Amino acid sequence: MIRHARAADHAAIFEVVEAAFGRPDEAQLVEQLRAAGDAVLELVAVEDGAVAGHILISRLWADSAALYGALAPLSVTPALQNRGLGAALTRSALEQAPEFGCAGVLVLGDPAYYGRFGFTNAAAKAVRSPFSHLEAFQALALEDGAFAQPLSVTYPDPFGA
Ligand SMILES: CC(C)(COP(=O)(O)OP(=O)(O)OC[C@H]1O[C@@H](n2cnc3c(N)ncnc32)[C@H](O)[C@@H]1OP(=O)(O)O)[C@@H](O)C(=O)NCCC(=O)NCCS
Repeated sequence: MIRHARAADHAAIFEVVEAAFGRPDEAQLVEQLRAAGDAVLELVAVEDGAVAGHILISRLWADSAALYGALAPLSVTPALQNRGLGAALTRSALEQAPEFGCAGVLVLGDPAYYGRFGFTNAAAKAVRSPFSHLEAFQALALEDGAFAQPLSVTYPDPFGA
């Protein structure tokens, strides 16, 4: 089951994100983004009543009136990986993102994984950001033309970018 994260999930989310990445950095990033009010959309996958996966889309500061989101991080409990939870979380977050006002989403991740959801490095070519030079930097337009014009984005402070 995929649902919106609640305050009561926060401790479990920390554990899942920390376990997925094998270090606390990304779990701390989630807490910092939340505390700074930069989280746009946060979903959890629940299995047997426990948080098994988590995804966050946070705001980007763009030189545009449209809202752009950063998908990061995506985490699934190690024992439950490769069973489609990550894909279900990603698809659900991308489906909901337009309702939260997101015209487009950026991600820094493996193109082999994120390509399946429609993210491409080509779409990110018009985006100026600290990660623009990386192959892993990919974009997905949720509104037509979202990445058609040059766009400059700044990441929220917790990213340290
Ligand atoms: C990446 C991650 C979220 C995927 O979730 P998942 O539920 O295991 O993945 P799914 O079942 O939806 O998809 C499985 C596919 O993902 C691939 N995959 C798993 N982990 C991956 C990783 N770290 N990088 C790239 N691909 C990965 C698998 O090889 C598999 O590919 P296939 O469908 O071509 O066989 C999960 O493995 C995870 O939490 N990894 C550690 C944290 C991380 O690296 N997060 C992503 C960066 S933000």
